[in-house]
Amino acid sequence: MDNFEYNRQSWNELTTLHAESDFYNIESFKKGKTSLNHIEIKELGDIKGKKLLHLQCHFGMDTISLARKGAEVFGVDISDTSIQKAIELSNELEVPARFVRSNVYDIENVLDETFDIVYTSYGAINWLNDLDKWAKIIKRYLNPNGMFYMVEFHPFIYTLNDNSEITESYFKSKSIETIVENSYTDKSDVSNKNLIHIEWHHSLSEVLNSLITNGLKIEFFNEFPYQVYNCFPNLTEIETGKWVSEKYGDKIPYMYSIKATKN
Ligand SMILES: C[S@@+](CC[C@H](N)C(=O)[O-])C[C@H]1O[C@@H](n2cnc3c(N)ncnc32)[C@H](O)[C@@H]1O
Repeated sequence: MDNFEYNRQSWNELTTLHAESDFYNIESFKKGKTSLNHIEIKELGDIKGKKLLHLQCHFGMDTISLARKGAEVFGVDISDTSIQKAIELSNELEVPARFVRSNVYDIENVLDETFDIVYTSYGAINWLNDLDKWAKIIKRYLNPNGMFYMVEFHPFIYTLNDNSEITESYFKSKSIETIVENSYTDKSDVSNKNLIHIEWHHSLSEVLNSLITNGLKIEFFNEFPYQVYNCFPNLTEIETGKWVSEKYGDKIPYMYSIKATKN
């Protein structure tokens, strides 16, 4: 099996757990609550009437939240279960959205159009091995003057072990293989004990340079002294929706965002 096939299978299993978890809180989402956070809501600005491509859309909550803000959305994800669930949600909520199952790297086999916005968020690029190829895909799918927006977990966070000590290199090029034991949402166990995740961690320079060398103009780059999700070890909530390390508090970066344009 190739690396992506391992990830497709593990994400199929995790999606089923996620859709039922308090973490994703699908019931309040169905009643109209957005799944977007204050950062992307503010930084994206008005997206009404914009055509938006959501890369690695998981089971569509953020994609549908973006549609509720008036965008015409298209979500792509490698997981069959995620896409099936996203289509079900969009139909049930009667929020128009298109979804297709595809590896980000194979998207040209299933999608031939362009967008005003390409969007990706939280826990996405660590599933991609080649950011140069990723940036080329972003550029391919943007209209002239189109906007790429991402908000992601800061790579510094991945240097910490479960005891909040720096044990991992910030600069990684090799793949990281882990056996999937439970979900980050509520630590519920996965039933299939043979699932493997393959990830790649990317330094900030790698992310920024992949966009710059492929002709995208960086409009802003922001770093945040808190996490919006409680999905890393040893976090404590300092304000509603703001999580920091018990050990380092707000002294370290937890997330970053980038807006870039295609000129
Ligand atoms: C942590 S989730 C993204 C979370 C997202 N912010 C959300 O909750 O809506 C990561 C997603 O990336 C997808 N994924 C992983 N590798 C992929 C690939 N090569 N191509 C497309 N999707 C991929 C997974 O199936 C999963 O749905």
